[in-house]
Amino acid sequence: DKEITVTITVVGASGDLAKKKIFPALFALYYEDCFPKHFTIFGYARSNMTDAELRIMVGKTLTCRIDKSENCDQKMKEFLSRCFYHSGQYDSEDNFSKLDEKLKEHEAGRISNRLFYLSIPPNIFIDVVKCASTSASSTSGWTRVIVEKPFGRDLESSSALTKGFKQYLDEDQIFRIDHYLGKELVENLSVLRFSNLVFEPLWSRQYIRNVQLIFSEDFGTEGRGGYFDSYGIIRDIMQNHLLQILALFAMETPVSLDAEDIRNEKVKVLRSMRPLEIENVVVGQYKGHVKGGVSYPAYTDDNTVPKGSLTPTFAAAALFIDNARWDGVPFLMKAGKALHSKRAEIRVQFRHVPGNLYKNTFSVDIDRATNELVIRVQPDEAIYLKINNKVPGLGMRLDRSKLNLHYAAKYSKEIPDAYERLLLDAIEGERRLFIRSDELDAAWKLFTPLLKELEDRKIHPELYPYGSRGPVGAHYLAAKYNVRWGDINAENYKT
Ligand code: BG6
Repeated sequence: DKEITVTITVVGASGDLAKKKIFPALFALYYEDCFPKHFTIFGYARSNMTDAELRIMVGKTLTCRIDKSENCDQKMKEFLSRCFYHSGQYDSEDNFSKLDEKLKEHEAGRISNRLFYLSIPPNIFIDVVKCASTSASSTSGWTRVIVEKPFGRDLESSSALTKGFKQYLDEDQIFRIDHYLGKELVENLSVLRFSNLVFEPLWSRQYIRNVQLIFSEDFGTEGRGGYFDSYGIIRDIMQNHLLQILALFAMETPVSLDAEDIRNEKVKVLRSMRPLEIENVVVGQYKGHVKGGVSYPAYTDDNTVPKGSLTPTFAAAALFIDNARWDGVPFLMKAGKALHSKRAEIRVQFRHVPGNLYKNTFSVDIDRATNELVIRVQPDEAIYLKINNKVPGLGMRLDRSKLNLHYAAKYSKEIPDAYERLLLDAIEGERRLFIRSDELDAAWKLFTPLLKELEDRKIHPELYPYGSRGPVGAHYLAAKYNVRWGDINAENYKT
C-alpha cells in the first residue's frame, strides 16, 4: 500500500484563534500519538515570517497535558520541526500554487491528504476556498476545509456563503465547526440518553417540565468589540452553540451513530421549532459598574464599539418544539457576557410527583422539590441529579440531595479541548460533530426574523451592571412560563 501524508494548513496562522486553540490542539494530538507517521503543518498568512519565527510563535503556545512529563520538551521539538510557514495573499492563486509546490515536497510522492483550517475573517472565506481548491488541492487523496462561524449574519448571507463554498467544494469537503459540539459533556449527552434505561423513557413532555440552556461569561467583550458589535450575543452564542445543544438534547433516536443519521435527526428538531416571537425574548447590555473599589467598563466604553450601540450582550429566550415529544415544553435559553459567573450548563426540570405522599414533609417549597438533572458542560464538568431523600433520624423530614458524577473526582485525566476532538474528527473524516448546510439553514430560519425585528425596531437592550446576574427581564420571561432559572437562587436574585 502506498503511504499517506496528511498536511494541515492553518490559514490565518498569526491570528488569535490559531495561537490560542489550533496550534495547541494540533500539538496535543501529536503528543497523544494521534497523527499518522507522515504529517506536516503549514502556517499561511500575509506577513513575512520564516519557519523559525513561526516555530517560536507556536512554541510559546504549547503546553503538555501531563505537566512536565519527561518527554514533553522532546515532543515539542519534534512537533515544531514539522511546522512550516508560507507567506501569501489570501486571494492569490499564484501564492497558493507556491504552497502547493511546498506541500508536494513534503508529501514526497505519497498519497496526499490536505486539510485547510480557515482561521480568518468570513469576508475572505470564499477567496481562500477558491485559491486553495483551484491551486492547492490534493490530486491523490482528499482535500477538506474547516471553517468556523460567523457563517453569515442571517439566512440570506449564510446561504450566499454556502453557495460560494459549493462553487469550489462538495458538501462533504466542508467541515463547519461549532466548537461546543466538541466539548466532552455535550458529546456525552447522547450517551447519557441512549445508553441508560433510566433517562430516555422520561425524555418528553410527559415528565419534563422545562429545559434550560445557560451560557454565561464573567468577562465582557473587551478587545473583541469590533467583531462582536456587528453580531451580538444571539448570533454569537444562541443561534449556534445553544441551539446545537438543544437539537442534540431533543432529537429522536437516530438510526445509527453515523453522521448523516444523527444530523438528520437534529435537523428535524430545528425544522419543528415554533417561530420565535419577540415577546419571548429579552435582550440586555452591560453597563459600567464599580464593585469593591474596582470599576468595570460598560460595553459601549470599548473604543471599537460605536457609541449608542444597541447590540445585545445578553439574551434570554423561550423556545418551543412543535412536535409530539415536546409539545408545550419551554426550552429556555440564556446567554450573556459580563455576568457574575462563567458557566455553561443544561438543566432539566422534571414535573411534580403526582399526588405526592410526602408533600407536607418538605423543608422547601414543594414547587422546588422536583427532580432536576444538571449537565454542567463547564467549568468543573459534572452531571448531577437532584433527588429527595429522608433526613436520617427518627423524624420524617425530606431533604434535597445530589447524585453527582463529578468528573474531576472520578477521572484523573484532564479533559481534551474541544478543538482536539474536532481536528481529529476532520482528519479522520468523521462528520458527526460538524454542521451540515441544511442544519445551518434551519438555524438561521429560526433566528433571522427575530434578529431583523430587533434591529428594525431598534429595541433597546435592558442595561445590567457588569458582573451581575443579568437583566431582571429574564426572570419575568421565565416566570411567564412558570419557570425559575435553576442557576439562580430566587431569593438572591438581584438586578
Ligand atoms: C465563541 C464566541 O464561539 O465561544 C465567544 O464567539 C465565546 O464570544 C466563546 O467567548 C466561548 O467558548 P468557550 O469554549 O470558552 O466556552
